[in-house]
Amino acid sequence: EKGGYASFMLKEIAEQPKAVADTLLGRIDASGSLSLDELRIPDAELREVDKVVIVACGTAFHAGLIAKYAIEHWTRIPCEVELASEFRYRDPILAARTLVVAVSQSGETMDTLMALRHAREQGSKVLAICNTNGSTIPRESDAVLYTHAGPEVAVASTKAFLTQLVACYLVALYLGQVRGTKWGDEIHAVIRELAQIGGQVEQVLQTMEPVRALARSLADRDTVLFLGRHVGYPVALEGALKLKELAYMHAEGFAAGELKHGPIALIEEGVPVVVVVPSPRGRSVLHDKIVSNIQEVRARGARTIVIAEEGDEAVVPYADHLIRIPATPVLLQPLMATVPLQVFACELATARGNEVDQPRNLAKSVTVE
Ligand code: F6R
Repeated sequence: EKGGYASFMLKEIAEQPKAVADTLLGRIDASGSLSLDELRIPDAELREVDKVVIVACGTAFHAGLIAKYAIEHWTRIPCEVELASEFRYRDPILAARTLVVAVSQSGETMDTLMALRHAREQGSKVLAICNTNGSTIPRESDAVLYTHAGPEVAVASTKAFLTQLVACYLVALYLGQVRGTKWGDEIHAVIRELAQIGGQVEQVLQTMEPVRALARSLADRDTVLFLGRHVGYPVALEGALKLKELAYMHAEGFAAGELKHGPIALIEEGVPVVVVVPSPRGRSVLHDKIVSNIQEVRARGARTIVIAEEGDEAVVPYADHLIRIPATPVLLQPLMATVPLQVFACELATARGNEVDQPRNLAKSVTVE
């Protein structure tokens, strides 16, 4: 069943280019526009949406955090992202024009299910982004956009995460398309790039040997820190979550701009710090700021592991280890940058003798609140 791979997790990491392509299949028409009739929410209603609220747990929550950047940029609709387990207990503001998006691989996560029930009771429409046909969350939602990752067996989510991102981008781009925003040209360009993205994920997978060797060399450490900005911040959180759950190590993700507000005190000689560097194009201000952050942590003894786009030469002098990813539009970068972090966590956990498909204390779907 593992198709020659040592674990389901490795198999599922390798399946990502196909999972991403399958999730796009049939959703981009010949003219390069999105067609999401399957959503079953009329365009007229989508034009009326005045707030988007995303609810999810764990890795799916990280997909939601990334979706916020895309939704607000391409649609100008305010978007909140909330841990499903917190949502209904704080009396959230929900109305008929609020679109609630529930993201869940399994479709059975109790926290997410309770959050969407709460939203529907308040009169909001719920769109599920889900990987499991006919599961409870899509059955109880008003609409569903399925991710087509195929069955995910390993407890740690990998291919489902990438397809959740694709589905979130599709929702954001589609909302932009039906509402018509000033980003029309950009939306078309991004749809074209998205159509090619599976090939780029494959390119990343082909260059992972140095990442594996690096992970093995860090097997005896007890802390790894992750930094990112903009959409790279949730990627940092996801990298840290993977390492916690698989390697049982202390791992934390931070927004790089927060370093000076506290976390920099954690930096001491030899601490590995993984930095997700935003594209030097587009958001170049952020790029330059993060290069300064890399210098700052390195000056305090950190061992810097830098994930940066091909052609980004500014990071080279400060990277103890440099992981290259293909250049992509700024908002799509998480589809590239997450992959090395999955490989890193999987290899490090294996080097520590852990069972990567079945980490201790965890279950694949959490059906209790
Ligand atoms: C982490 C992981 C979990 C799940 C979370 C939500 O690798 O797998 O954090 O992402 O339990 O699960 P779903 O998406 O099934 O609702």
